[in-house]
Amino acid sequence: MSDPSPPPYAGPERVLSGIQASGALHLGNYLGALRRFVALQNQAGGPPCFLFVADLHAITVWQDPARLKDQTREIAAAYLASGLDPARSTIFPQSAVPAHAELAWIFNCVARLGWLDRMTQFKEKSGKHKERSSVGLYTYPVLQAADILAYKATHVPVGEDQKQHLELTRDIAQKFNNDFGRPGWFPLPEPVIQGPATRVMSLRDGLAKMSKSDASDLSRINLTDDADTIAAKIRKARTDPEPLPETAEGLESRPEARNLVAIYAALADIDRAEVLRRFGGQGFGVFKPALAELAVEQLRPVSEAMRRYLADPAEVDRVLKAGALRARAVAEPIVDEVKAIVGFWRGSGDGG
Ligand code: TYM
Repeated sequence: MSDPSPPPYAGPERVLSGIQASGALHLGNYLGALRRFVALQNQAGGPPCFLFVADLHAITVWQDPARLKDQTREIAAAYLASGLDPARSTIFPQSAVPAHAELAWIFNCVARLGWLDRMTQFKEKSGKHKERSSVGLYTYPVLQAADILAYKATHVPVGEDQKQHLELTRDIAQKFNNDFGRPGWFPLPEPVIQGPATRVMSLRDGLAKMSKSDASDLSRINLTDDADTIAAKIRKARTDPEPLPETAEGLESRPEARNLVAIYAALADIDRAEVLRRFGGQGFGVFKPALAELAVEQLRPVSEAMRRYLADPAEVDRVLKAGALRARAVAEPIVDEVKAIVGFWRGSGDGG
């Protein structure tokens, strides 16, 4: 008889995600990640949320040590300003929970080189100078798997660009469970890639992702941009000369129009069809000012709240410290158990 399928993971559900501490946040991070975190946190009776600032990931490329702490506080401030509530969500810096790095080492020995060789983000980030990239940039997705599985997280809200890293996380979890004969020990986490803006594109090129590494600041809306800057960037956004279509099919070969409609839908919390019901048949001369007004109205409270938090770094530090303690209390026992499963010496009295 063939093996029955392994028992599924039977532990509690947990939501976990992170954002790198490597510079200004943009509208893609806000719509693809931050707003989704808040929505999950606010789900009545939903699982607990763990949201961290990925400073270990940030140093896979050079970070100025004099700036890194502030960059960490900036992401934490953006979390709080977007509506994450430290009483309900655990907010912490990744480096304050050593279990992430410990588990990452063990996973470095579980993951296969061939798996990492397929990671498209490494290829994009290392560009033509692969041999000059840090080893950390290469094993970046293994650390990401450790971030998730140190909490046995079951749901991971991210933008579309993280899908491949989530698949790798599942492969690592599955291989660990198989190699050590522990079916169902680690969950196979589900990516939560939802909403109309899982891949926000550049305002200058509808085929390129909005990204902090784009040389042109006109390509992105930063969370800290003021109202005039936001309006100017939307006014200058690349478009085509046609009016907006009446239905979503009409957006298919129009990447720039599709992107602006998706941004509008996400900001207004409606679907794309509704945006087209309102604006179909109208030109960008009408749509762009409406989008600018909506973007300013939605982002202003966030950037104002961010500024308030950043003016009070002691408050942000209190949140991060309390979050780190709570995070450690969950991750340490899980990683201790992993170490026992792997067979590490644990001193006398452990029965091992
Ligand atoms: P990072 O800091 O690059 O991006 C943070 C989040 O923003 C999303 N995102 C976008 N969403 C829509 N459109 C865009 N143009 C866009 N650009 C970025 C990303 O998908 C991400 O959700 N590796 C992660 C950080 C990380 C992590 C983790 C995430 C480290 N460990 C564990 C989840 C679980 C990253 O690069 O984030």
